[in-house]
Amino acid sequence: MCGIVGYIGKASAPSVLISGLRRLEYRGYDSAGMAILEDGSIVVSKAPGKVSALNDKAHADWPAERFVKSSTGIAHTRWATHGPPTEVNAHPHLDESGDIALVHNGIIENYRSLRTRMEAKGHHFYSETDTEVLAHLIGDRYQGDLFQAVCDALSQVEGTFGIAVISAKEPGKIITARRGSPIVIGVGEGETIVASDASAIIAHTRQVIYLEDNDIAVVTADHVDIRDLHQIPVAREVSELGFDAAAAEKGGFAHFMLKEIHEQPDSLRNAIRGRLDFNLGSSVLSGMGTSQRDLAEIQRVVFVGCGTSLHAGLVGEYAIEDMADLHAEVQQAAEFRYRNPIIGSRDLVVAISQSGETADTLAAVREANQKGAFVMGLCNVVGSTIARETGRGVYLHAGPEISVASTKAFTCQVAVMLMMALKLGRGRRFSRDEGMKFARAIESIPELVQKVIERSDSIAAIAAKYANDEHAFFIGRGPLYPVALEGALKLKEISYIHAEGYHAAELKHGPIALLQEGTPVIALANDIPGKDKTLGNVEECRARGARILGIVTEGDHEAMEAMDDVIEIPACHPLVSTIPTVVALQLLAYHIANARGCEIDQPRNLAKSVTVE
Ligand code: G6P
Repeated sequence: MCGIVGYIGKASAPSVLISGLRRLEYRGYDSAGMAILEDGSIVVSKAPGKVSALNDKAHADWPAERFVKSSTGIAHTRWATHGPPTEVNAHPHLDESGDIALVHNGIIENYRSLRTRMEAKGHHFYSETDTEVLAHLIGDRYQGDLFQAVCDALSQVEGTFGIAVISAKEPGKIITARRGSPIVIGVGEGETIVASDASAIIAHTRQVIYLEDNDIAVVTADHVDIRDLHQIPVAREVSELGFDAAAAEKGGFAHFMLKEIHEQPDSLRNAIRGRLDFNLGSSVLSGMGTSQRDLAEIQRVVFVGCGTSLHAGLVGEYAIEDMADLHAEVQQAAEFRYRNPIIGSRDLVVAISQSGETADTLAAVREANQKGAFVMGLCNVVGSTIARETGRGVYLHAGPEISVASTKAFTCQVAVMLMMALKLGRGRRFSRDEGMKFARAIESIPELVQKVIERSDSIAAIAAKYANDEHAFFIGRGPLYPVALEGALKLKEISYIHAEGYHAAELKHGPIALLQEGTPVIALANDIPGKDKTLGNVEECRARGARILGIVTEGDHEAMEAMDDVIEIPACHPLVSTIPTVVALQLLAYHIANARGCEIDQPRNLAKSVTVE
């Protein structure tokens, strides 16, 4: 949520900042701005809208020479929390003197009282943001040492922050700090890049340092000095990024979402590789950090997550109960710490998060730790906060996911949870042979997904028929019920069609009242247990005039006859079928949104990583 870039080195700072912001734009894109150091003063350019608007504005307003000469600056792309997405509210924000500029991710919770205090001291505020207050606070504490002033200011702040600060009086350095909002420092040769995520750094260097909460660093072109808020030096290791610049580019696809949908056979292969043990009929998830004996002690699995990750957890719940005879449940991360969850040392709490930074999921991890649960993470971003705070877990290895609407992370999350179910099931219920059979079913997932992707053109033709509708219902049963929820979420996120997912049986308990002649119902009627009942529900919808798009198993003529349109999915294990089915729904949503001319990778009002409650 919001993106930060800071640059200090030998290249043109404005150009590096703009290209870094473009890579971070998926985190927030309602306004953008940058501040650079030039001959003892700070020059700022800001614009509402996307990074391209900032680029146009800076090139129109600034002399070309500035792009060549300046080599230090900070920049931000915003997802508005305090105040609308106007130029005035865009970051960077300046202190009273105009000599200090700040970009900030997170929320300063006590900004109102701080602002009142500053106003009483004669400070003038021009924006509605919480961030401007922090800029003034730093300026107020400044007595010739920017590092000291930032430390002093941050000690008065409640809330979360990832910040980068520059001062006209202290050229040649950027101060950066974090609490609850990530900061990564890229260590190049004669250049250093500060960013809220590594995709803004990868074009320059793969050597990075992740700041920990309450770290504050002085960054110069060739040095990084990290301390805590009491100025005691702390050691943070340099690690190497596990992906290259190409992974964060569109690579010939029209949108990141389409690229990421197409990447799924590979990302799933990466998620599964080396993790299936055909000899034992089990899986090898060493990151779980548990022996088979520890696992035998577990009496319940609780998944926590938000958005698409929450839906993945719902599939996981089915998988664990079905395969491992173990009580499993999903809890919304946003509620977890407020409802006094009954959790103990024999509960395995699995935090599911693509980014590993979602504020509510992180809070749930902390709550579960407090209650003494056995906590693990299921994250995609290596080194992310949730991955580090859980200390154990399983990485997805899906590669960078840039599109705001999550696709490959979901399918990899489900694949990993199926492998967890296999491991837990093997310890409790399965024979070796049964385990081997399920392992084979998991192994086939990339190929099943490839077959669905090959149908992209025919799905696009079907999508064209549904692109002008304003409402849609998705129904499913068993493990396909969460897939119906996810299909509806994908469609609403990127096409702005009002879409709702329901359990197929639940539709008649109210929502069926909304069906009219021609209302689209997307029925997940794959040939898995419960199919006949779903087909019964389809008839109920047809009787009310609904138009049915069925997701059916290849060659299932009985199911096909009940539908107006069909997308066929290869036959597979019921739990495994969730993955190719969701891929069909991702493609459907993508092609509908594309036909409607929507901004697919950056849907309105959304952000990729939600670091506020
Ligand atoms: C945001 C994104 C969703 C994502 C959710 C949880 O709302 O737009 O796509 O599912 O956050 O994100 P996480 O990184 O925790 O999986």
